[in-house]
Amino acid sequence: MKNINYSSFVLALLCSVTILAQETIQVTVTADADAPVVSKHIYGHFAEHLGRCIYEGLYVGEENKIIPNTEGVRNDIIAALKELDIPNLRWPGGCFADTYHWKDGVGPKEDRPTIVNRWWGGTTEDNSFGTHNFLNLCEVLGAEPYLSANVGSGTVQELIDWVQYTNHDGISPMADWRRENGREEPWKVKYWGVGNETWGCGGNMTAEYYADIYRQYATFMPGWSGETKVYRIASGASEDDYHWTETLMKNVPHELMEAVALHDYAVFDWNDKGPSVNFDEEIYFKSMEQALNMEEYVTKHIEIMDKYDPEGNVDLFVDEWGGWYDAEPEVKNGVLFQQNTIRDVMIAGTVLNTFNNHAKRVKMANLAQMVNVLQAVILTDEEKMIKTPTYHVMHMYKVHHDAKLLPSTIEENVAFRGLPVLSVSASKDKKEKVHISVVNIDPEKDIEVEVDVSTLNIKNVQGSILTSDKLQDHNSFDNPEKVTPKEFKGAKLKKGKISLTIPAHSLIVLQGS
Ligand code: AHR
Repeated sequence: MKNINYSSFVLALLCSVTILAQETIQVTVTADADAPVVSKHIYGHFAEHLGRCIYEGLYVGEENKIIPNTEGVRNDIIAALKELDIPNLRWPGGCFADTYHWKDGVGPKEDRPTIVNRWWGGTTEDNSFGTHNFLNLCEVLGAEPYLSANVGSGTVQELIDWVQYTNHDGISPMADWRRENGREEPWKVKYWGVGNETWGCGGNMTAEYYADIYRQYATFMPGWSGETKVYRIASGASEDDYHWTETLMKNVPHELMEAVALHDYAVFDWNDKGPSVNFDEEIYFKSMEQALNMEEYVTKHIEIMDKYDPEGNVDLFVDEWGGWYDAEPEVKNGVLFQQNTIRDVMIAGTVLNTFNNHAKRVKMANLAQMVNVLQAVILTDEEKMIKTPTYHVMHMYKVHHDAKLLPSTIEENVAFRGLPVLSVSASKDKKEKVHISVVNIDPEKDIEVEVDVSTLNIKNVQGSILTSDKLQDHNSFDNPEKVTPKEFKGAKLKKGKISLTIPAHSLIVLQGS
């Protein structure tokens, strides 16, 4: 036997134990009676008349005999969205909304005028997908419709006519017209956006000017819907434009405004957004840096809202968010069509954790966009349809819908080029099941995590994982199942602590019961 220097052996052993201990990130998840419920509306979607989102995507037309459809909307998409339990859907834009005149999209299709989609490719649309199609689709999906109304090129009268058309159950010109067009009962639309990006494509207004315009529009909106409370959403800031939020909170009486919006995309250079698939680590880093900014933006906008509205009467709706890259060049009519990879899983997982953790004020969010545009959950190619990796994130995170937030803390998060690698949120559902969603954004390193759940009375733990070999991996029409969730068996529960190794660029949802 070789001579062993026991003191250096013990020292080496202690060091390795210390290094191990240092590399294990400690997370604590606790219950708090005052914690908010994570509104299911945080898991909302957005469909704009843009590229192949509505036409050639969601809507293939009532006369289409090749692709099975319900009132022109693809049945395969309806089935996929039903599995997601989508809570709400925002339509018709986006920038398109402030060019859209809803009356052109109701009544006999052959009489409808065309509209040039001036923001998105200049295509001429025939207005065949209109208010009835959209609201009936929402009914089929069990989703709340969120109508984004035209302020930029519309009028107060046009908006209140729309509210009357969709919501009034008595005798009135618009309700009667709705009945003539085949719909007896009102749809009772609750969510109404008063303009979109009014600081930009919605009219290039100043915050002060828009606040006044908003007051005018909001004054005339309620009163048509019987018991349905109309929820008026002010067009909100972009990213860190805190002056915008401050001006709305200060200048608009809060009884006129149920929510203020915020838009934030993970885009690092508007002139060169980088490819959606063939990106390198540098681009990945920049995308994640942008995605993680959501935490700071949401925190600071909420601080302003807290200052003017400490009772929390006005909600924050992040009604556009997601990764935005260069469009795939070879896709015909593919305005803003992009592929969806493990990078998008990292963006969705971390951003949704932020929303969950700020659920006290963030009551709605809308991923941009649902089909064939930006960070879509569904991509189509004629008869084919695939679910993207982001679809699977939304499916895995369904467990947080209307569950009570369990506040979590992360001690000494490690860094990937200065970015915190671990992101966590947790909630307890109505059946008392605990769900913890954990994301490791590090492109290469697995991380050890220990989650202290000792106060939660958990006896069993199981989980599922969404990852793939490479960050660039994605689902394609030839290989639609490349990225799908798998069972995760690596979580061990001992003495009130769950220990696990979360692989590089992975998202795990644990369930404790
Ligand atoms: O989602 C695409 C566009 O992004 C929307 O039309 C607009 O609101 C935002 O700038």
